[in-house]
Amino acid sequence: MKIIRQPAEMTAWSKHRSREGQSIGFVPTMGFFHEGHLALMRMAEQQADRVVVSLFVNPSQFGPNEDLSAYPRDFERDSQMARDVGVDVLFAPESGDMYPPESKTTVTVADLTDNLCGADRPGHFTGVATVVSKLFNIVRPDLAVFGQKDFQQLAVIRRMTRDLNMGVDIIGHPIVREKDGLAMSSRNTYLDAPLRRSALSLSGAIQQVCTLAVEGERSVQRLNAAVEAFITSFPETGIDYISFINKDSLQQVTTVDRDTVVALAVKIGNRVRLIDNGFVFQD
Ligand code: PAF
Repeated sequence: MKIIRQPAEMTAWSKHRSREGQSIGFVPTMGFFHEGHLALMRMAEQQADRVVVSLFVNPSQFGPNEDLSAYPRDFERDSQMARDVGVDVLFAPESGDMYPPESKTTVTVADLTDNLCGADRPGHFTGVATVVSKLFNIVRPDLAVFGQKDFQQLAVIRRMTRDLNMGVDIIGHPIVREKDGLAMSSRNTYLDAPLRRSALSLSGAIQQVCTLAVEGERSVQRLNAAVEAFITSFPETGIDYISFINKDSLQQVTTVDRDTVVALAVKIGNRVRLIDNGFVFQD
């Protein structure tokens, strides 16, 4: 596996592969790999001739009070894991090369970024859309794989890719979960045993919504109340949002149907904020 740090070298590598007629699959990441990241890489390998993974903890998507400096990092371990899974290139640029001081351009996707995590994290999705645009321009992939755990992020990237005619196929990978249902996240490493038990409130709440919906409940008001009671019955949980949204518009709905996704963001203890989501009808 090749490790590339310079954007220009990355582009040159990709152009060379494309000239040879090889397709390029891309997995953008912020590192600290877990099984969820590896699943994205394997999916890219199934769909493309060559796979590039980027590892860049993107400062522009963190707010002033968020965990940029504390974000977990382990380059050696990550590069070994990517190598073992068969990745061709690990692109790990420096911040100064991604954001030279003279940069003036950002990418903002309207409407889809107003609610859910966008409401709690002003500027977050502009940071994501900007860095993903830059990475697409540098890596020049044919397809890119993103996890569905960040449901809003996936919708924003799909919209941006279409709106800006980027010509990159966006593939969503189903959420990868631990055996007990906890959605995999780099932030799970911050959870001690009691907090990890509380973190199960998210996947448990989604399961509860599905069960109630299958039993005939359609009212978001009543489903919301059930979810709230369920999550707050776990110690040290603080709900940021519980939202029932249409899968495409991300707008809130008042009754659930087959296009409804329940999306959650919950603080577990003082420092960990977890997200999870699922279709209300999961067959
Ligand atoms: O999902 C992530 O890890 C990040 O938001 C991404 C897409 C790599 C952009 O920095």
